[in-house]
Amino acid sequence: MKKNTLRIQKGFNLIAPVYDFFATFFFANLLHRAQTFHTAQLKKAKKTLIVGGGTGKILAELIKSKVSDKYHYIDISPKMIALTKKRISSMKLSSLEIVFECSPIEEAHTTTYDLIVTPFVLDSLDKDTLPLVFEKLRASLSPKGEWLFVDFHIPSGKMRFVSKAIIKILYFAFNLLCSLRVYSLPPFEKYFAKYGFTLLSEKFFLKSLLVSRVYRLG
Ligand SMILES: C[S@@+](CC[C@H](N)C(=O)[O-])C[C@H]1O[C@@H](n2cnc3c(N)ncnc32)[C@H](O)[C@@H]1O
Repeated sequence: MKKNTLRIQKGFNLIAPVYDFFATFFFANLLHRAQTFHTAQLKKAKKTLIVGGGTGKILAELIKSKVSDKYHYIDISPKMIALTKKRISSMKLSSLEIVFECSPIEEAHTTTYDLIVTPFVLDSLDKDTLPLVFEKLRASLSPKGEWLFVDFHIPSGKMRFVSKAIIKILYFAFNLLCSLRVYSLPPFEKYFAKYGFTLLSEKFFLKSLLVSRVYRLG
């Protein structure tokens, strides 16, 4: 792992035990609602990739909704993965295959998936890594597969200034704690268009500060 990747890992390890508390304190349950809004309408997937699933709320939700039989759960932070394992430990998992991989997505061993889920993680990737990850995930998505993307968003109109300010503060905090070296939200829509994805569904939350989108290839 590169030196800065190790710093990022250390940072997310540090915040893992308090992540859910602060996420709920600042955003109530809206981060979770944004991540789970599309769950019911996702196609049943044989194999699902979750990248940056944090403490595992999204995995627990997908298991409950029986979205998939097999999960590959990739997160850079061993502490986040440990919390995820704890969260799902009381669930009925006997018919499921869940593989945890503690790695940055850019170095992870991906295969082919019918569903890819990236919840509030692509915003952590710098401008050199993000295109590599888009290439990698596009190559890993089966032809009829879906990509559930959930992240921050800067709307146009009255809320633009406030949203930009909130996102600046969040980047300031995450750079301080996790040494991200990312300072502004990447133009995600342009990336999805450039890599050949078509938008299937979109829903905004919190005055459009959050967005949940489902994409497919082609
Ligand atoms: C902001 S948290 C979001 C957690 C969770 N998705 C949620 O919304 O509650 C970002 C998550 O992505 C993970 N992460 C950050 N950079 C990553 C990378 N390059 N590869 C894989 N996981 C990463 C972090 O460890 C953390 O769990």
